Amino acid sequence: MAHAPGKIILAGEHFVVLGAPGVAMAINLHSWVRVRPKNSPGVNVDADIPLRFISGEDRNPVFPNPPGLRPLQLAAEATLNHIKSKSSGLSVSVECEIPVAAGLGSSASTTVAIIAAVARSQGVELDRRQIFKLAFVPENFLHGKSSGVDQATCTYGGMIQFTRPSSIRTLQLKKSPVILVCDTGIHHATKTLVGAVIEKSQRERMEFHDHLAEVREISRGVVRALRNGDDEDLGKLMYQNHELLRKIGVSHPRLDQLVNAAKRAGALGAKMTGAGGGGCMIVLCHSNKARDTIARILRRGGATPYKISMDTKGVQSQTC
Ligand code: MEV
Repeated sequence: MAHAPGKIILAGEHFVVLGAPGVAMAINLHSWVRVRPKNSPGVNVDADIPLRFISGEDRNPVFPNPPGLRPLQLAAEATLNHIKSKSSGLSVSVECEIPVAAGLGSSASTTVAIIAAVARSQGVELDRRQIFKLAFVPENFLHGKSSGVDQATCTYGGMIQFTRPSSIRTLQLKKSPVILVCDTGIHHATKTLVGAVIEKSQRERMEFHDHLAEVREISRGVVRALRNGDDEDLGKLMYQNHELLRKIGVSHPRLDQLVNAAKRAGALGAKMTGAGGGGCMIVLCHSNKARDTIARILRRGGATPYKISMDTKGVQSQTC
């Protein structure tokens, strides 16, 4: 068995694909994977996730391995190849409490949990770096050109600064930020959004040169604010990052409304998180009490709030 956390991005999404540093935190919503041997050859995957958000398929398919589960099957197959397993056949079951296609890393989380669980089922304990690298196979299949920030966060846990292709620095925080996640309920395709930003960056080279410089500054500032426990600074940088993401066209009117509503309700900072186009936004709050109040206000505004905290462990596997 293995489990892995989801993630939020505090700074740098999209620009991290273009080489800027991103800052991300693992959160206490998890995916769970169980692997069993089976008599027939090949890998079967079943997953209790709403596939219609990924590939237009129905939930709980009758047949094993519908196309929407291909990335998860790829994760298992890549792991078996990597460890040169002679396994005849495996059955992989996935449960995921992370909202799907919402920017919270559900695919990266299930992917790294599958890699860890499949290796463990063959008596191999992969180190985190190997899990991170193997996860590019399914993540690139699903998201096109992914930076690796999602799987790095779900693998290592805690708060990390990530720079392509594989620089992962765990950050020591003065205190954990009090964060609310709000789901707009609007689902997006990460692949389309990432592709659109890459194309735009090629068309608008001058503008993106400036945007990248701004994001580098924002990410550096966010790391500094987290190390110093400076929530005021962190909040300002989150608002600034949201504005930049809005400018490049990956936000959504619902996300902008929720960011503005959070600001009016006294939030220190707020921004969309992940690929955008709907999905989730995050809010930095003064205190747990302020978070309760802001959660109530945003729920009345139609969003689904999650009072999350940081997962410090990352992916974990065990034999049962
Ligand atoms: C998705 O969580 C983050 C993006 O920057 C894509 C990536 O980095 O792979 C939008």
